[in-house]
Amino acid sequence: MHGPDGADLDLRAWRNVQDPFPLYAWLRDHDPAHWSESLNAWVVTRYADVVEIFERPETFSSDRFRKIDERYVSQRPAVRAVAEVLRHWLVFRDPPDHDRLRGLLQSSFTPRQLESSRDRIERIVDALLGGVLARGRMDFIREIAFPLPAMVIAGLMGVPDADLGQIKTWSDRLAAYLGGAVDERDNFAEASVGVAGLVDYFHHLLAEREGRPRDDLVSLMLRAEREGDRLTRDEVVANAILLLFAGHETTTNLLGNGLFHLLRNPAQAALVRGDPSLLHGAVEECLRYDGPVPATVKVATEELTWRDRRIRRGDMVVPFMASANRDPRQFADPDSLDVRRQPERHLAFAAGIHYCLGAWLARLEARIVLAAVLGRLHGLSLALPEPRWRPMIFLRGLESLPLTWEVG
Ligand code: HEM
Repeated sequence: MHGPDGADLDLRAWRNVQDPFPLYAWLRDHDPAHWSESLNAWVVTRYADVVEIFERPETFSSDRFRKIDERYVSQRPAVRAVAEVLRHWLVFRDPPDHDRLRGLLQSSFTPRQLESSRDRIERIVDALLGGVLARGRMDFIREIAFPLPAMVIAGLMGVPDADLGQIKTWSDRLAAYLGGAVDERDNFAEASVGVAGLVDYFHHLLAEREGRPRDDLVSLMLRAEREGDRLTRDEVVANAILLLFAGHETTTNLLGNGLFHLLRNPAQAALVRGDPSLLHGAVEECLRYDGPVPATVKVATEELTWRDRRIRRGDMVVPFMASANRDPRQFADPDSLDVRRQPERHLAFAAGIHYCLGAWLARLEARIVLAAVLGRLHGLSLALPEPRWRPMIFLRGLESLPLTWEVG
């Protein structure tokens, strides 16, 4: 499908996956609430409209597994198997269940609680960098951006580091489905294998912790389960998987996308190197400029006319945060990376009741990594000028990020 001036409107097309920003700009200007045949959903691209969707959870439900009607929930066993687990994730629940689950987990994700993670993050970054420093080159994704967040969230949850390799295999398979992979894989079949592995893993871990509770998130959830029906076992298992999944896949991509764009804009990287007080703003700007979660899925709970479009009950409505974050109606000169910008109101972590629970942790990890990498690797540069982005629509990250630097 093409727009009047030849724009290819298929968000799944290879060119648009590699660089979606020209298409977002076209849609914002010409068709801000666009019916996408290929996504079978409404694609919403303007900042104000994306915010409105997040602020109206009773109309734009997150409960895609219960509210989406027969048009989407096919009877394939693989689909049902995945839905059975993911329907318990708090990110896919509406009030009041959402608020109950969030209230339980929130206490473990306050800045004060997480401040104690700072030392651990710094130690892991030191060890990972120490392993590559003398070599003068690395794949940043494989050697830093993947292992760090995985080890941090595993540590908080009480999952042993030794199990992370296996967990990555399962969660990559789930990512193909949640990320909206556009290659030839069968996303549901992949996801059901991944989910089955993760469910089994957490049932075993929980059984072990029941006998010997520790000071970790898994034990905290078990306590909530025991103390009067606030959490069922299925909810504990499912939300443990959510935290593990959400805690690393996305942060890996914040680190990768952010460092890539800073190195592409050497003057901006130099500003951060010269003035560490800019780190905070630099991370926010990286989130705005090319965040790890470009879009999410909501479902219309009623028939409504919105932005001159007739939306039916059960239609999928997809707010594109990555487009909202480049909307010139909200951000001046949005296609420039500017670490001094302070884009407080960016939507990389969404907004409203589902605002990312791990935002503070992801920011902390990104600030520590960027400070260490930019500060310690001299003459750091991209070893491959042209990036290859993983073929997904709802998650955005690089296949690899080869870097070189001066040694000695
Ligand atoms: C840069 C990294 C991250 C990004 C860009 C990100 C993005 C998001 C977004 C956009 C949502 C809302 C989704 C929706 O409304 O459909 C969300 C929710 C959530 N995120 Fe993150 N996330 C990141 C890191 C993390 C980390 C490190 C954790 C956990 C340790 C985490 C845990 C969660 C949870 C539990 C929710 C559900 C909150 C709710 O439904 O109330 N995220 N995240």
